[in-house]
Amino acid sequence: MTTYRIAVLAGDGIGPEVTGEAVRVLEAVGKRSGVGFAFTPALIGGAAIDATGGPLPKETLELCRASQAILFGAVGGPKWDHLPQEQKAERGLLAIRKDLDLFANLRPAVCFPMLVDASPLKRSVVEGTDIMVIRELTGGLYYGEPRGIEQFADGSARAVNTMVYTSGEIERVARVAFEVARKRRRKLTSVDKANVLVVSTLWREVVTRVGRDYPDVTLEHILVDNCSMALVQRPTQFDTIVAENTFGDILSDEAAILAGSMGMLASASMGGKVGLYEPVHGTAPDIAGQGVANPIAAVLSAAMLLRYSLDRVDDADRVERAVRRVLENGHRTRDIAEPGGKTVGTREMGDLIVGALEG
Ligand code: IPM
Ligand code: MG
Repeated sequence: MTTYRIAVLAGDGIGPEVTGEAVRVLEAVGKRSGVGFAFTPALIGGAAIDATGGPLPKETLELCRASQAILFGAVGGPKWDHLPQEQKAERGLLAIRKDLDLFANLRPAVCFPMLVDASPLKRSVVEGTDIMVIRELTGGLYYGEPRGIEQFADGSARAVNTMVYTSGEIERVARVAFEVARKRRRKLTSVDKANVLVVSTLWREVVTRVGRDYPDVTLEHILVDNCSMALVQRPTQFDTIVAENTFGDILSDEAAILAGSMGMLASASMGGKVGLYEPVHGTAPDIAGQGVANPIAAVLSAAMLLRYSLDRVDDADRVERAVRRVLENGHRTRDIAEPGGKTVGTREMGDLIVGALEG
């Protein structure tokens, strides 16, 4: 029997709750398809800081390198927010992205028909939304040097971050974006701020050049401010979007609103040998430990793991269909419920999805 080695980095806040359901769903998939999953848990983020003093222990990184894919929860929380920037829980995630060379982050934002009314936006705006945001994940402001804060004797200070990209970094993420767009509706929107930033001038040049290799994909460029407006004005005009790290971070949160809730958004981080699969929503400290978090983003991330790291496309489709079926049957976690509507908790939602898979 094939057994896949999966590292499970549940992290902080609601991370462990939702990741637990994703694991159960994969186990159910394995049972049905006759394959095994060997899940190995490891520490990251705040949980790792508490246990080892740092957000990304060496053992965790070694485990990830030896695994076929990584199932990730979320990192961070108020408990660790006071730490200096370079020691925060979030550093664990940033370090792992860099270390494993996960330069392409795929974030699908799909408005499921039965959730149209869960979005605060009008039905006429969000209906039919099906966007793939591809965020560059290992460059730009997040990693650029120089960086840091200088304190002056008079009490004032100066802080600097650097937005830097090489043509090679732009080209490789652009290629991923064109390949993805080619398998979708063959339209790619490249986001930049070319009216102000030289980094964006290079970005636009390189993406345009790469585009010549993909004559079947329509390429358009859009300024990031305009894109943020267009996303909530006419989201259906977008198919695949590619953006540098910070722009992609911001736009993908905005796109979450089109899908009804952050609790619905999955992601895949790829590029190096091992892919990392992560719900976009973060740790949600306000609801952590209550068993009410929506596990669907984590479950759909597990579906992306099946699709992109294990090439088990049929199983991935099956998981996505199971999620849709549960939603069609009217089951809702709190974040996607109609006002006053009945809701289920994290575990129950997991049970329902597992049931739909087996049924
Ligand atoms: C994300 C998150 C992270 C980021 C944080 C937790 C470091 O917001 O994955 O979008 O900014 O990349
Ligand atoms: Mg973010």
